[in-house]
This record gives sequence, structure tokens and C-alpha cells, in this order.
Amino acid sequence: MRKVIAIYPGSFDPPTNGHLDLIERGSKIFDELVVAILRNPDKDPLFSLHERRHMLETLTGNFKNVRVDVFDGLTVDYAARVKASAVLRGIRALSDYEYELQMALMNRKLQPELETVFMMPAEQYSYLSSRLVREVAQLGGSIEDLVPEMVERRLKEKLDPALKLQNARKSRTGKRA
Ligand code: PNS
Repeated sequence: MRKVIAIYPGSFDPPTNGHLDLIERGSKIFDELVVAILRNPDKDPLFSLHERRHMLETLTGNFKNVRVDVFDGLTVDYAARVKASAVLRGIRALSDYEYELQMALMNRKLQPELETVFMMPAEQYSYLSSRLVREVAQLGGSIEDLVPEMVERRLKEKLDPALKLQNARKSRTGKRA
């Protein structure tokens, strides 16, 4: 039987619990799910592509049918390269709908065979976005429960490089800040 491969494209700067919730849901309905990080020269991301890839690979390591990749150019072209027949996207609230519909219809115009599948993350993540997580963290607010512990630690280190050194030293001696 034909395997149904889906891509889950996005910026993931940084990955949030909402993204992981969607990855888990997607992994249950597709045979293979490729989390595809867009290499976007127009954006100035907080985390490098390498950092985002490493975080996502670590966080999705327990899903056997999920892999992480990086792409540039059109999503439809990337989907064709990895033989995906669907694009997975999350819809959190009505406000997402217009932008997502526009993208889905443009992708359909470019590649009529490629279907966009929308899934809703758990309601506790319905207000969550990478942009808000970055903003709250940058302004010193708590992002506990919004991102995995690994991402929280990386964000803190990113915003306070001295902490990174401290954590590196502590991890060599088996402790963590
Ligand atoms: O996480 P994001 O930033 O909402 O993801 C947006 C993304 C990566 C899905 C979108 O920008 C995209 O598909 N970019 C690739 C370029 C492309 O194919 N553009 C035309 C699609 S409408």
C-alpha cells in the first residue's frame, strides 16, 4: 500500500509545545511526517537553522515516523522532492484562518495534487506562538509550560550568554542551573 507522507513546514523559532502537540497528532494520522524548517533569508531568526534543527530532532526523537529537515524555495517543490502528498498546518483560532486559507489555496494553485490538512492543537496552546514566546522571554516573563524545558533553557542562554557558560561548566560536573 502507498505510504502517505506529509510535511509540516514552518519557522519554528523556537519550537513550542503547540508545535509538538501538532507533530504528535500528525504522526498518528500520516505514515511519515517531515518537520520542514524554512531557510528564510528575509527573516532574522533568534535561533540559527542548526539550533532549531537540533532542538526539533531531540524533541521528536521518540516519534519513529517523524524526521526533521531544512528547505528553501517553494513549499510545493519541497513536498514533491520528498514525495509528500499533504501539508500539515495548525489552526489555533479564527484569526489564523485567513492567512492559512490564502497559503493553502496558493499551494493548491501551484500544485493541485498536494492537499493541505489543518489540525487544531490542544486548547491550552490556542494562544501560543513562537513570536509571543520570544517576546515574553526577552522581556523577562515566564515561558514555563509554553515550550519544552530544553527550549526554555536554550532561550535563557540565548538571552543571557553568561548562563550558557555556567550551564556548560555545570553539565561537565553533572549539575544544571
Ligand atoms: O511558521 P510560519 O512562519 O507560519 O511558516 C510559514 C511557511 C514556512 C509555511 C510559509 O512561509 C511557506 O510555505 N514558505 C515557503 C515559500 C512558499 O512556498 N511560498 C508560497 C506559499 S503561499
